[in-house]
Amino acid sequence: MFSLSKLSPSITDMIRFDHSHVLVTFHQYTGTAKTSVKKALAETICDALEIHATLEEEIFYPVMRRLDDSPVLQKSEPEHMEMRRFIDELRQTKASDARHDELMHELMRDVMHHVADEETVLLPQAERLLGKDRLSELGAQMTSRRIELLKPKAGKIARNTAVGFSGSTTAIVVGLAGALMAARFVSRHTPELSSRH
Ligand SMILES: [Fe+2]
Ligand SMILES: [Fe+2]
Repeated sequence: MFSLSKLSPSITDMIRFDHSHVLVTFHQYTGTAKTSVKKALAETICDALEIHATLEEEIFYPVMRRLDDSPVLQKSEPEHMEMRRFIDELRQTKASDARHDELMHELMRDVMHHVADEETVLLPQAERLLGKDRLSELGAQMTSRRIELLKPKAGKIARNTAVGFSGSTTAIVVGLAGALMAARFVSRHTPELSSRH
């Protein structure tokens, strides 16, 4: 039976996109940035990581566990817990404090390592073992759960994104990447639209 969820981007593409968003935001965090910008960037990263980790734990990891409970998968949730400890401490630290920079760098070092494992082991494995339709169905599940998780934080995320990216070309790049992904998705799945052009 035709299902709209099969038109969704795959869960693996969504996970990769979340990773890129966090890394791009981190690259804006420089030692010379204003404290208000540092705090906004840190908050954007913390919120994005919390939502991403919850989505993986609730939707992606359980599916992968049923396929192959690999060592990389087994250390994924403990690594998320470690990341949450850094996030708690970061939130309690003033951006004017040198410890804020240290914590940010420690958190991102852990995140980069974790992301590398996911992108070189778990995501390719998911794409090998799950069909295209299943990956899209899981992508659709991820989107509806993401909307629920974003709702209570939407205002705060919008404010921090605006302050963190103020005067930065990155906002344009991230916006453009999102728009391109959406355009690719629409043209791929709407033949009557693409044939008109
Ligand atoms: Fe993860
Ligand atoms: Fe991830």
